[in-house]
Amino acid sequence: MKRIIGIIGAMEEEVAKLIAQADITATENIAGMVFRVGSLGGADVVIVRSGMGKVNAGICTQLLVTRFGATHIINTGFAGALSPEVALGNIIVSTEAVQHDFDVSPLGSRKGEIIAGMVAFPADKELVSSACRVIAETLPDVSVHSGRICSGDQFISEKAAKERIISEFGGLCCEMEGAAVAQVCTLNNVPFLILRAISDSADESAGEDFNFSVFQSTVAEEFAKAVVRLIEVIG
Ligand code: ADE
Repeated sequence: MKRIIGIIGAMEEEVAKLIAQADITATENIAGMVFRVGSLGGADVVIVRSGMGKVNAGICTQLLVTRFGATHIINTGFAGALSPEVALGNIIVSTEAVQHDFDVSPLGSRKGEIIAGMVAFPADKELVSSACRVIAETLPDVSVHSGRICSGDQFISEKAAKERIISEFGGLCCEMEGAAVAQVCTLNNVPFLILRAISDSADESAGEDFNFSVFQSTVAEEFAKAVVRLIEVIG
């Protein structure tokens, strides 16, 4: 079956470099999101900026699957570091994603348990191993980690909030969309992967670091290079 890869970034900066390199043949505007259909590195793609947060990411993912026939979804963007092993500019490949702000524990479930018995949504194993290999080959000087990504509807910029997520969920990094993409993909049986470049430390310096990383560093440029190469390989 021909693969159609849906690529989601929350912010314009997170998809602009991919759009610039793609051959876009059609665009469609739905729910305030511009879906760009075309090819990138020889693969059929639909590239879209979802907007920030889990609701936007969920709507966007479902549209990619049901309206655009996406067979695989990649969510790309920036993230704050949670684990002390992870530093600014490192790249994270999701093995699974959790929603750190989902809590029905007063009713007897575990924190983050969205579907009965399920806290973490596992990413596609083939995509995970391709991504780890391709990123290591494309960016040999960049540290790549694979593991859990924690998502929630907050930009984490206080040590106490960061420590709460670490103690309840562990994880390598925090961001605002990945686990919503993961939930929708899981419900639709669509393989997914989340790729994140670390822009900040998710503490009091996060706002300033994020703006610097996103707009001025070479991280974004290098990261986009690796994402394009991955699309080429899996497409
Ligand atoms: N994306 C990038 N940095 C983040 C942070 N500190 N919290 C949530 N999402 C992020």
